Amino acid sequence: MSNYHIKNFEEYYLIYRKSLRDPESFWEEVAEEHFLWHKRWDKVLEWDFKKPDVKWFVNAKLNVTQNAIDRHLQTKAQRTAIIFEPNDPSEPVRYYSYRDLYHEVNKMANVLKHQGIKKGDRVCIYLPMIPELTFSVLACARIGAIHSVVFAGFSSKALATRIQDSECKMVITADGGYRGEKTIDLKGIVDVALETCPSVETVLVAKRTGETIKMQKDRDKWLKPLTEAALGECPAEIMDAEDPLFILYTSGSTGKPKGMVHTQAGYMVYTAYTFKNVFQYRDNQVFWCTADIGWITGHSYIVYGPLLNAATTLMFEGVPNYPDFGRFWQIIEKHKVNQFYTAPTAIRTLAKENLDYVLNYDLSSLKILGTVGEPINEEAWHWYNNNVGKKKSPIVDTWWQTETGGVMISPIPFATPTKPTYATLPLPGIQIALMDEHGNEIRENQVDGRLCVKFPWPSMARTIWGDHERFRETYFSTYENKYFTGDGAQRDEVGYYRITGRVDDIIIVSGHNLGTAPIEDAINEHQAVAESAIVGFPHDIKGNALYGFIILKEFGETRVHDNLRKEVNQLIAEHIGPIAKLDKIQFVPGLPKTRSGKIMRRILRKIAAKDTSDLGDTTTLLNPEIVQAIIDGAL
Ligand code: WTA
Repeated sequence: MSNYHIKNFEEYYLIYRKSLRDPESFWEEVAEEHFLWHKRWDKVLEWDFKKPDVKWFVNAKLNVTQNAIDRHLQTKAQRTAIIFEPNDPSEPVRYYSYRDLYHEVNKMANVLKHQGIKKGDRVCIYLPMIPELTFSVLACARIGAIHSVVFAGFSSKALATRIQDSECKMVITADGGYRGEKTIDLKGIVDVALETCPSVETVLVAKRTGETIKMQKDRDKWLKPLTEAALGECPAEIMDAEDPLFILYTSGSTGKPKGMVHTQAGYMVYTAYTFKNVFQYRDNQVFWCTADIGWITGHSYIVYGPLLNAATTLMFEGVPNYPDFGRFWQIIEKHKVNQFYTAPTAIRTLAKENLDYVLNYDLSSLKILGTVGEPINEEAWHWYNNNVGKKKSPIVDTWWQTETGGVMISPIPFATPTKPTYATLPLPGIQIALMDEHGNEIRENQVDGRLCVKFPWPSMARTIWGDHERFRETYFSTYENKYFTGDGAQRDEVGYYRITGRVDDIIIVSGHNLGTAPIEDAINEHQAVAESAIVGFPHDIKGNALYGFIILKEFGETRVHDNLRKEVNQLIAEHIGPIAKLDKIQFVPGLPKTRSGKIMRRILRKIAAKDTSDLGDTTTLLNPEIVQAIIDGAL
């Protein structure tokens, strides 16, 4: 029995127990057998959740790209590493073998070096889902630069905030990007962002859409001539196990986005391990994760996890409904995809279309289906199971977070019996705790609680870039000696976990995490707005949608409110991006507040969900009369 590859349920239990009994030798074995190290660790783990301070594979030296690329060249150089499926199905597919990938990444790494990027420098990558995105990520890792990928749907203000926070020296972008029928002017967005980003010295521009863009002299350079001139070999920088590998921003419930910092060795070991087991990947299969590399799912399961296992990973540039709603199924047939990993919101979108879109394609290559990003409702689970998996492909409902780096709770296909809406059991090495409202760990089954992790795992984020105190406060101060996830969960009679959703002010809309505070800040910039509060409400497709309660400076004013609604959403699009637009906006005379001035969101959530029969205790409100007024005006 190998720790690295769990093949049945009995093995899962044995390996899981071993990982509890002696986590250090468990991870040591995995690390020893499956990776290339320049220097071995002195110690597997050092940790203290109070500070917090966590180190895995202490003093080990390595380079992640040598593990993800170079070591496959001996026997698998010809194997396809990346299949690039363009937005437009009539454009040719591009295939990159491991040898091609090696050269592309090395050339790009040399370009970065020539442009003055050194180990530890931050490079912001703002690219559409084209191969250059993967090359850029790995080129940074090759030379020890820290990549910070920003999803190319974020606005210039959101991009600027992220570039400023980590003081990136370079931005890698494209002239434009395709998304279905739309073309997005990425370079234009970067130009606006850079007006307020003095740290950026160089902008590298990949050519994708070919439209005319402005190039700023000395700062902006086309990527292609530079890579063409660069050498195809670049020595891999030897990194310490705990050097940062990347920063990835995620929404906070207050304040600016949090730059989660992931480090080299732990992230490598854990993403490789989870990819292998959660997707039961076998040689020569084709794996497809539909996420964007701008999110953690793309980092871990389009780029790092698959490539570390010498897998073939598919990168799709487009969207599920272009040219029509059959696009995902057509791609599965075309490339004979074996593992398909997507988000519940995509499943719900596609499930509401004509079933012929699915039935028209041969999906018999599929072996495993996955979901991630938000709770999957029972109806969507069954639709996916019946129509896509034809009841033959197990569904892995994988729970994890940007902060956790890799999948934490998930069935192991063909081992763990699945149960709709349940992420089931923790993976080896993951020690879950459910906490009650008094801060005590609940030991029994058939309970509801707050989801925590009580022992370190290799790919946990180590800090928030530039703000370790915020890291401590957000994740390690709620419960003593535990990492608090911000999620609620249930444990059933056999110990299976079901994630019920966020218990903080983060709302997951179509699988995207959105903090309420930054949206409220954007709205409050409108000159007519006095105050606002955002809550989520259930939505058939998006899971949650946003409902804004807005107090105007002059409530009685006769301005056309529809215009104001548009302006508010426009402001949100400018500050964050279109994903954060409000579905409903209600102008209200006041907001329910506690005596200490805190908005009671619990009540607003009920009003937004049209569930006002029992509003709970409202006696602590400063202004209880406002509640009825809001209910009367609800949309
Ligand atoms: C939610 C995405 C239910 C959860 C990898 C978590 C889920 C947040 C699931 C992290 C799931 C993720 N079931 N909820 N299978 N997976 N979530 O950082 O609320 O974008 O805290 O990472 O998504 O989102 P993030």
